[in-house]
Amino acid sequence: MNNSKCHLMLMASGTGSNVQALIDAVNHGQIQAEIVGVISDQPQAAVIQKAQAAGIESFISQPKDYISRKDWEQSILDFCQARSSDLILLAGFMRILSADFLQHYPQQVINIHPSLLPAFPGRQGIKDAYDYGVKITGVTIHYVDDGIDTGPIIAQESLKIDPNWDLAQLESHIHQIEHQLYPATIEKLIQEKLI
Ligand code: GAR
Repeated sequence: MNNSKCHLMLMASGTGSNVQALIDAVNHGQIQAEIVGVISDQPQAAVIQKAQAAGIESFISQPKDYISRKDWEQSILDFCQARSSDLILLAGFMRILSADFLQHYPQQVINIHPSLLPAFPGRQGIKDAYDYGVKITGVTIHYVDDGIDTGPIIAQESLKIDPNWDLAQLESHIHQIEHQLYPATIEKLIQEKLI
């Protein structure tokens, strides 16, 4: 292990297409970092297989398996700290991390969200924007605080919605942006040594 490399910990609850994009970017040298683990709260999530296929250690931690939320977060903290994580990247991780947890990683926990925040936070930002009928939406990368998709914005990319698109087409276009913007933003942060 090269200790000079930034250690990335990834957290995800679902499909893991953004995790895959980050893995690919590291493997292709587009991000100068090492991925030290993938944490999920969903044992059946497809992201677990993606981590395994890439030879990355995964850790499943569900709140229901712990006496308290604090104990659950401690399990995540232990996993992150044992691997000297420098940045924790949420990629479709659908739970809130408390201020207590976040104080261990100030300005080091980052999230991607599929809308132009502060518009359409929550679990279904793409659908909410589509249903509202906005003409422009996009993707946001932001530092995480203890709110729902809140915290200082690092990067945004907008997308004009073609009125002929159905929801699936919009989702596809948003994910294409995500898979470029997240790796590029993380690499920029690492190079600027803003972490
Ligand atoms: C992504 O679109 C991500 O932006 C979103 O979950 C999806 C996960 O997809 N995150 C949020 O909505 C956070 N509120 P993936 O598992 O294929 O990366």
